[in-house]
Amino acid sequence: MEIEFVASDAAAPARSAVAQVVFEGGTHDGAIGQAVAASRFTGAKGQTLEVPPQAGEARRVLIGAGKAEAFDAMGAEHAAANAFNAVKLSGLESLRLILPKADAELAARAALGVRLAAYRFDKYRTTETADKKPSVRRTEVVAADSAAALAAFPPLAALADAVSFARDLVSEPANILYPAEFARRVKDLEELGLKVEILGEAEMTDLGMGSLLGVGQGSVRESQLVVIRWNGAADPDAQPVAFVGKGVCFDTGGISIKPADGMEDMKWDMGGAAAVAGLMHVLAGRKARVNAVGILGLVENMPDGAAQRPGDVVTSMSGQTIEIINTDAEGRLVLADALWYCEQRFKPKFIVDLATLTGAIIISLGNDYAGCFSNDDALAANLLAAAGETGEPLWRMPLPEAYNKQIDSMIADVKNTGGRAGGSITAALFLQKFVKSTPWAHLDIASTAWKKPSSVPTIPEGATGYGVRLLNRMVEAKYEG
Ligand code: BES
Ligand code: MN
Ligand code: ZN
Repeated sequence: MEIEFVASDAAAPARSAVAQVVFEGGTHDGAIGQAVAASRFTGAKGQTLEVPPQAGEARRVLIGAGKAEAFDAMGAEHAAANAFNAVKLSGLESLRLILPKADAELAARAALGVRLAAYRFDKYRTTETADKKPSVRRTEVVAADSAAALAAFPPLAALADAVSFARDLVSEPANILYPAEFARRVKDLEELGLKVEILGEAEMTDLGMGSLLGVGQGSVRESQLVVIRWNGAADPDAQPVAFVGKGVCFDTGGISIKPADGMEDMKWDMGGAAAVAGLMHVLAGRKARVNAVGILGLVENMPDGAAQRPGDVVTSMSGQTIEIINTDAEGRLVLADALWYCEQRFKPKFIVDLATLTGAIIISLGNDYAGCFSNDDALAANLLAAAGETGEPLWRMPLPEAYNKQIDSMIADVKNTGGRAGGSITAALFLQKFVKSTPWAHLDIASTAWKKPSSVPTIPEGATGYGVRLLNRMVEAKYEG
C-alpha cells in the first residue's frame, strides 16, 4: 500500500474512491443529504453508506466515526480501516480519505489504519482471479498540514512493516517456516541495524539446555535459539530490556499427540517468537532510544523414534530437573531454558515472554484478551496501560504460590503439567521457576495470536501480530530516552 498525504484542494486521481469520515448526528446537504435521509446511516462507528459521487470521483462512501467528542487517534485509525475495507474490492486503485478533523497526528494514524487493514497473506493462491483480490493500492489522506502528517508517519510506517513481518511469520505453513528458516528470516533484519546471533543444537548442548533440546529431539529440523539485539540508547552499555518468545514452528503434541481436528492451527504456535521478532523490527525501524534484547526459542514438536517420552526427566540449563508428564506441554520447556539464558547473559531490567502457551487461557478469557502473569506490579501496570492504548486487550491473572504443589514431581524438581485446574496459571508458575530475580511478565497469547473473522477493522482474519504494538508502545512510553 502506497500512502500519501495531500492538501484538501489537491485534485483526486482519476478512478479514485473517496471515503468521507463523518460524525454521528452530522448534517449533510445536497445529494449526500438525500442519500443519508433515505437510509439508516447515522454516522455511528462502523457504519458505511454509498452516496452519489461528486464531479470527477468514481465513488464516494460515508464512514461513520461515532460521536465527535469521543473521536481520537484510535477512532481515526478504525475509520480509515473501515474505509479501506468498504472499497478494497471495488476495482478502483486509489482511495482518498477525508477525515472530519485532519491534524497531523490523526492523519498519520489514519494511514496506519489503512496499512494494517490492507494486510493479506495470499502468496500461495495461484488461481485466485484478479477480481477477487483487493484493488486499492494507493491511499491519499487529506491533511490540513500534509507536510506535518508526512513527518509524523515514519514511526507508524515502521510499526506497520513490523506487524506485517510478524503476521507473515505466523501465517507461513510449517513445511516452509521451520526453525532454521525462521532464524534465517530474522537474520535478514540485520539490514535494519539489528545484531542477530543464531545458536544451533551443538551450542545449546554446551550450554546445558536439556529442556529446550528435549522438545526438538523428535524432529528432523534442527532447533535454534536466536538472539536479536538493538542498541539504540545513548549509553551503549545501558541495561537492556528483554523479550523472549515461544517459537514452536509446529506443535503436534509429540508422543502425547494432539487430535487431528484443528491440528493445522499449530503452525501458529510460534506466535510469541513472531511478536518478539516484530517488536525488534519496529524498535530498529524507528530507531528507538533503548537497548533491547529479543530471544526466540525455535523448535518443532514431533513424534518419532527419537522423540522424548512421557516420564522422561530432563535437566534444564538452570540445573533444575523436569519430569515430562505430557510432551504437549512443550512451550514451557522451551521457555525455561530461553528465560534462564536471557537473565544470566543479559541481566536485563525486566523480561517479558510471549507464548501461545495454553488452551486454558482461551477458556478463561475468550478470544480477545491475552493473559498477563507477573511477579512485578509496576511492570504489569506498564503492560496493561500499553495494552489499553493500542487496542491489544490484556488481563492480569494471579500467580498463587500455593498452586505450585500441582507441579511438584515425585522424582524430579518439577513436572511439566499440573492437571486441568488453572492450567494457564500452573504453566506460568512453571515459567517463574526459571527467572531468578528479575522483574518478569508472561503473556499467554494463545487466545489472541490468530483471529476468526474479526470485529476490529485493522485486524484481518488470520494472523494478528498481537503483541508487537503493545510492547512497542510500552517501550516508547516507559523505557526510552
Ligand atoms: N500450543 C499449545 C497451546 C494452544 C492450544 C495454543 C490451543 C493455541 C490454541 C500448547 O503447547 C499445549 O499443547 N498446551 C496444552 C497443555 C496441557 C498438555 C497441559 C493445552 O493447553 O492443552
Ligand atoms: Mn503443546
Ligand atoms: Zn504448543
